[in-house]
Amino acid sequence: LHIAVLMGGWSAEREVSLTSGAGVADALESLGHRVTRIDMGRDVAARLAEAAPDLVFNALHGTPGEDGSVQGLMDLMGLRYTHSGMATSVIAIDKVLTKQALVPHGIRMPGGMVVGSESLYAADPLPRPYVLKPVNEGSSVGVAIVTEGGNYGSPIGRDTAGPWQEFDELLAEPFIKGRELTVAVLGDRALAVTELKPKSGFYDYESKYTDGLTLHICPAQIPAVIAEAAMAMAVKAHHVLGCRGTSRSDFRWDEEMGEAGLYLLEVNTQPGMTPLSLVPEQAKHIGMTYPQLVQRIVDEALT
Ligand code: DAL
Ligand code: MG
Repeated sequence: LHIAVLMGGWSAEREVSLTSGAGVADALESLGHRVTRIDMGRDVAARLAEAAPDLVFNALHGTPGEDGSVQGLMDLMGLRYTHSGMATSVIAIDKVLTKQALVPHGIRMPGGMVVGSESLYAADPLPRPYVLKPVNEGSSVGVAIVTEGGNYGSPIGRDTAGPWQEFDELLAEPFIKGRELTVAVLGDRALAVTELKPKSGFYDYESKYTDGLTLHICPAQIPAVIAEAAMAMAVKAHHVLGCRGTSRSDFRWDEEMGEAGLYLLEVNTQPGMTPLSLVPEQAKHIGMTYPQLVQRIVDEALT
């Protein structure tokens, strides 16, 4: 097949996407496909039209490659592409819309409220500890954990570095203490549960993409009932949102609460494909190589 790999773009996760895209493009070539690499700019429509591929492999992360915009463009152009379609992407990139879609289906997620960043200079929106995050970024870009007596003064000061300086609105959620888990779904199936143990205690951008800063334990050493619950929630979220190909659901688990302490944080419809990324790692755990995973995502897009 002639496959165009879309990567890069202009989101905060541009570098992550370039790494995902390079890995995917190399794998596709090793599988014998003809590959056109497209580092996405505003001329993406013209470049896709010129390439006229049989399929587009979407290796973009964040806006506009994960938020439905590029999906809508490709729908209009009649191009086939990997991963989720437009409507799913619009909902899944937005952490508030995701809650509205999933909670009525019995999927436990932390409560949350959207606050104007300016309001944070006056008062804490929730009792500490709580988490502030942009509504539609990935890779923990702009995420802050506000702890009791911790890094941020009370109320949060204008002179304290934080996401309130870059984003007009933020989602405030109660911090779920406990453990960080993630589950990849491929096709109809959850692959495994991985526990992330960042050395810093916070699985932030640096901990995600610097080799050696986070321990990945796959399969997670947790009770079978919790692993099964996380995998079932990830598959259900994948189906409720209408995801295609692959998705990855991220969780926090407060072990003192047992199964009732398992919370889904978000669903990633364009999960990372870098050497440190979790979907390739879980695929490997079930005996699937990186090129086999890439081919499987291609196959899912063509059926
Ligand atoms: N947002 C990053 C790429 C991930 O979910 O893996
Ligand atoms: Mg994410």
